[in-house]
Amino acid sequence: MNANDAIAISLSFKKVIFGIKPTNWHVMNNIPPLIISTCLNEYQTIRSWNPLRTQTSMKLSGKIVLITGGARRVGRHIALDLAKQGAHIAMTYQTSEREANQTVSAIRKIGVRAAAFYTNVSWEADVQSTVHQVLQKFKRIDVLINNAANFLRVPFSQLTGKDFDDSINVNLKGPYLFCGAVGKVMLKQKRGKIINMADWAGLRPYKNYIPYCVSKGGVITLTKALAKSLAPYVQVNAILPGAILLPKGFNRKERETIIRETPLKKIGSPDDIAQAVQFLIEGSDFITGVLLPVDGGRLIT
Ligand SMILES: NC(=O)c1ccc[n+]([C@@H]2O[C@H](COP(=O)([O-])OP(=O)(O)OC[C@H]3O[C@@H](n4cnc5c(N)ncnc54)[C@H](OP(=O)(O)O)[C@@H]3O)[C@@H](O)[C@H]2O)c1
Repeated sequence: MNANDAIAISLSFKKVIFGIKPTNWHVMNNIPPLIISTCLNEYQTIRSWNPLRTQTSMKLSGKIVLITGGARRVGRHIALDLAKQGAHIAMTYQTSEREANQTVSAIRKIGVRAAAFYTNVSWEADVQSTVHQVLQKFKRIDVLINNAANFLRVPFSQLTGKDFDDSINVNLKGPYLFCGAVGKVMLKQKRGKIINMADWAGLRPYKNYIPYCVSKGGVITLTKALAKSLAPYVQVNAILPGAILLPKGFNRKERETIIRETPLKKIGSPDDIAQAVQFLIEGSDFITGVLLPVDGGRLIT
């Protein structure tokens, strides 16, 4: 079996997948591993074919994605998922240096480039320096995902000005600073996408999380305002997750309450968020200023 045979069989496999020649299924019997692997490569290409993609929408393969807070939890899942689609990943971390290095290694094993940068997202000098370093290393930034955040629970009776500052500085000022720095880069490139991680509670606030909910409400307004300012070259959208990965300290009763109050009767998974991110990048370039809830329906209750 030579290379031409391999290509011929792999092409016929492609036709089978598209349903053009269903009778060709028999070629999958009795073929050597090399051919199977060629066919599987074709299959991966076909799998990544997405009928929702338009001709002109951005493709992740080869793009540079900068994600804040990408070392662990939801950010890590998003970073790995986008890397599997062929994107090169720059990520920020603050306290999770070890996890950031592990995530970078895992991404490099996929076969794309990756690097992690220490950043306190609420410090303008840190943000400017990180964007500068990312540009030096990767030359451009195609996608920015503002994912880093904190989630401070403080009952109303104990609220202080510091609680407000701690939430606003990280959750709202951080995305504001990154959008400002990276938005300018994207305008020069005449292309880019920004995705802000907000929260359904930015529209329907939780009890005991006033500064957090205000900060995420701010992210929602920031998203819409930037979508206008950066048009027509840059699309800016927000994802509004429901319960995905509960923070430490949530007990079983609280978890059950969340599930009961969610129409789809479950906690979401980080993959649900990664899929939404992928859709906003690859699905269409004609979407900007939207809020995409990924919340099992909680916003409609
Ligand atoms: N998980 C959920 O169920 C859920 C629900 C609704 C909305 N969301 C939103 O989805 C996003 C991801 O959720 P998550 O639960 O994975 O987030 P997370 O674990 O609470 O935080 C993500 C990362 O933010 C980074 N971070 C915090 N303060 C920072 C600072 N001052 N400077 C730089 N980085 C900082 C941390 O990096 P280091 O670890 O390196 O310090 C952390 O790993 C967040 O925006 C969150 O608000 C999540």
